[in-house]
Amino acid sequence: MIAVGSDHGGLEMKQAICRLLQERGLEFSDLGPADDGSVDYPDFGVKVATAVASGACETGVLICGTGIGMSIAANKVDGIRAALVHDSFTAQMAKEHNNANVLVLGGRVLSIDLGCELVRVWLDSTFESGRHQQRLDKIHQIEADRK
Ligand code: RB5
Repeated sequence: MIAVGSDHGGLEMKQAICRLLQERGLEFSDLGPADDGSVDYPDFGVKVATAVASGACETGVLICGTGIGMSIAANKVDGIRAALVHDSFTAQMAKEHNNANVLVLGGRVLSIDLGCELVRVWLDSTFESGRHQQRLDKIHQIEADRK
């Protein structure tokens, strides 16, 4: 199950990504917003991040105008590795090296087509584990040390 959310700056891209997930036969949960009225990105960032961190959803996709606010907000939630990506290389690395469990896109930065392509690349890539897992363990240790 993939959690999807945006703010008004990412609504159009979110709708296109939901269509893409549907076409691929993937289960997803659209956590809003439902219309293009102005909203605050942290409200939707935390919904998606919490859905992933709790295990209710395996992964998430977030879109705001630049993708910056959503990545800052989502990464506040323990266990979340939200990656803001701009091209195929960063989308691929986000999975292969960082095992990003939330993909973040800028709806005012990328074309809708490129945004959808980056979701495809991230979905189709595989975490390489090994030395990369060691580094993720260190990131999660930072969270544990701060409790
Ligand atoms: C909303 O105007 C805009 O600030 C938001 O979509 C995002 O770009 C924040 O990082």
